Amino acid sequence: MSFLRLFLFVLLLEGLLFEAKAQAIKQYNVNDFGAIPDGHTDNSKAFVNAFKGACQYHGHSRVVVPRGTYLVKLAEFNGPCRGPIDFFLTGNVKAAPGPREGGYWFRFGYIDRLTVSGKGTFDGQGQTAWSSNECSKNPNCKGLPISIRFDYVSNSVVSGINSLNSKYFHINVLGCTNLRFQNIRIIAPAESPNTDGIHIGQSKNVRIFDSFIGTGDDCVSIGPESTDIEVSGVHCGPGHGISIGSLGKYTGEKDVSGINVHDCVLDRTDNGLRIKTWASDIKSRLYNVTFRDIILKNTYNSIMIDQQYCPAGGCDTSKASSIQIQDVQYKGIRGTSISPDVEIFRCSRKYPCNNIVLKDIDISYNGKNGPARTRCSFLNGRSFGVQNPKACV
Ligand SMILES: *[C@@H]1O[C@H](CO)[C@@H](O)[C@H](O)[C@H]1NC(C)=O
Repeated sequence: MSFLRLFLFVLLLEGLLFEAKAQAIKQYNVNDFGAIPDGHTDNSKAFVNAFKGACQYHGHSRVVVPRGTYLVKLAEFNGPCRGPIDFFLTGNVKAAPGPREGGYWFRFGYIDRLTVSGKGTFDGQGQTAWSSNECSKNPNCKGLPISIRFDYVSNSVVSGINSLNSKYFHINVLGCTNLRFQNIRIIAPAESPNTDGIHIGQSKNVRIFDSFIGTGDDCVSIGPESTDIEVSGVHCGPGHGISIGSLGKYTGEKDVSGINVHDCVLDRTDNGLRIKTWASDIKSRLYNVTFRDIILKNTYNSIMIDQQYCPAGGCDTSKASSIQIQDVQYKGIRGTSISPDVEIFRCSRKYPCNNIVLKDIDISYNGKNGPARTRCSFLNGRSFGVQNPKACV
């Protein structure tokens, strides 16, 4: 056999093997479990049963949601499963209209090697529920259901999907390890309350790549006990920017570290790059944070550390935050601000911010209330390169 023939033979074999592998994914079509894509029938049972079947399969399995509009009131997908499992969404899943207290709509829990993909949409029908959200008045409010929860999911990928008009947060990540989001779209109107894009807590090695997030609250927020989090290639806006926090609200909160936000665009966001902590006795640390190569387009409060965070008012202003913030770098932050307060560092009087580094900051303000300002308290650090406005460290 000539080398060429051998080569072609090997290629053919590999092709066949690849094919066999692809075919080995066992499909569980929700329609085969009784789902009806008429937009009215509740398909919760069919979805959960399809998932249960797939989860029990000894090998790679896939729950398939074909084209069509599927009403799903509540779907809880719990592992552990016997092999890698996919949730492949081509159609639209639609939540039941109207408010419901707390909880969630879709939940993926205790699953290893999950892939959520397809070009379909999770439509939370939030527009039918936002008016009953009282969280801006009542700090102890229960909230409305989160659209998609990932609880204790590991080694997994979410790609291609759309999340539209969540009733409360779009996506919540809790207790996850090695979870990647890429090429997803999250959309809700600027004025929709608490429709945070992706909230991450108690998780490590979570990455968000190349995604569009336009919503009514934080595009991405990173809560207590999160480490090794990367946000890159995210277009955020409208929304409240990219936030770390809030921290210092609940006792027992653990440190946050290793946060890397880079190559993102913030477009008309209220707040840009923000760190927020409550003024409380709850003690922890936030350290090793980098914000790099960020483009701002008409943002409010472009760079902000707020250690007196108190969105609903009524906080004891004599208190200081007990969260120690240190080793935070801002590098290559450029663009335009819509408020004259471009940099706000309101650090804790009890635990001043340490080693905050500013390098090449160029943010212009063109409005009537200029010139652009920086406001700093209890801030220690260094600045070098371009500093527009003039840095206070
Ligand atoms: C800081 O965080 C990055 C991840 O963003 C990590 O790779 C690096 O090892 C951390 N550095 C230190 C000194 O902990």
